[in-house]
Amino acid sequence: MSDYKISTKCVQGGYTPGNGEPRQIPIVQSTTFKYATSEDMGKLFDLEASGYFYTRLQNPTNDMVAAKICDMEGGTAAMLTSSGQAANFYAIFNIANCGDHVVASSTIYGGTYNLFHVTMRKMGIDFTFVSPDCTLEELNAAFKPNTKAVFGETIANPALTVLDIEKFAKAAHDHGVPLIIDNTFATPVNCRPFEWGCDIVTHSTTKYMDGHGAGVGGCIVDSGRFDWMAHKEKFPGLCTPDDSYHGITYAEKFGQGGAFITKCTAQLMRDFGSIQSPQNAFLLNLGLESLHVRMPRHCENALAVAKYLKDHPKISFVTYPGLEGDKYYDLAQKYMPNGTCGVVSFGFKGGRAAAEIFMKHLKLAAIETHVADARTCTLHPASATHRQMNDQELAAAGITPDLVRFSCGIEDAADLIADIQQALEQV
Ligand SMILES: Cc1ncc(COP(=O)(O)O)c(C=O)c1O
Repeated sequence: MSDYKISTKCVQGGYTPGNGEPRQIPIVQSTTFKYATSEDMGKLFDLEASGYFYTRLQNPTNDMVAAKICDMEGGTAAMLTSSGQAANFYAIFNIANCGDHVVASSTIYGGTYNLFHVTMRKMGIDFTFVSPDCTLEELNAAFKPNTKAVFGETIANPALTVLDIEKFAKAAHDHGVPLIIDNTFATPVNCRPFEWGCDIVTHSTTKYMDGHGAGVGGCIVDSGRFDWMAHKEKFPGLCTPDDSYHGITYAEKFGQGGAFITKCTAQLMRDFGSIQSPQNAFLLNLGLESLHVRMPRHCENALAVAKYLKDHPKISFVTYPGLEGDKYYDLAQKYMPNGTCGVVSFGFKGGRAAAEIFMKHLKLAAIETHVADARTCTLHPASATHRQMNDQELAAAGITPDLVRFSCGIEDAADLIADIQQALEQV
């Protein structure tokens, strides 16, 4: 599929039925797979042959959908995970061990921040958070001899900062480590980070990719461009023999294009088992089939809402990277000229109390711990997803106590604006 346009990949990527085979991807609802001999199965366990033996590690339905996302991102290998959280955890833990360090943008999703700052710290992995707006010098200063990766979000949830991918890629590569980007908000329809130097992409497929609030899921895609062997001493897990697979060295056996995902599947999925269910992968594929049609509508609606709110007397600020004059407009034009995402953030002159009154009076927009859905949904991060953060951490994540995250769906923009208008009248 790699020569086709992104729209064609959305619809038909990942699965080409043969003569008389089902047109829709089959859901392989089986935990296990039958083999004629123990030798056949032994080859799978030794990674000598490719195939399936247990759905805790791999499943054919998942692989078809992962192949579609891989094609959309322009990668060489991909895997589905049970959630976006699992995808980000695996992507980092696949190359960073106890005693290692990672540089991450400070404006990342609160759940990812918590995963890094609290849970992965308990595992002995240290993180330095840097502003996405830092200079290259400041970014370089965050690296340590034990740094193993750099992490950021294309468009941050909910701060809506846009990552200068080339700047982060340069710093990462100058220090011999990969750049990992969570591309959930932009999706490969609007931005393909590999084209700008990123090495590994992650997704919460729960968001636009699924698009209908039907299934939690995640995905990791490898660009195949990072030369692990050139930085052998930093990545022993990929570049030295794995005793749990009879001494296989992933980077040698599976090459630059396959080592990262093979190791992640063979070790992390084997040991942690956070795999997406084949049923959810099937639902995800249905969502992907219309992603290229939905994304422009999300962006169109968000721009209309942002323009309406910009000059409203009760609104103190509007953040939308697709809005002319936004701090990130120029970066967004560079990396996502066809559109950014459907999420708009704004604040109230009346502060946190005004935000709470506004939320209470919305009718069409639903209060949900969700974002990037076909139906408009909204959230007050300071009292929900980011409530573990103190004011200082909130500020570093680009969030104020009055900030409302408004995720425009694909309804009619006029109805969304009318809903906002009537709720604002109550403030
Ligand atoms: C940018 C981003 N990354 C990761 C996640 C975590 O994904 P999940 O909820 O699928 O675990 C989210 C969830 O909102 C997100 O917005």
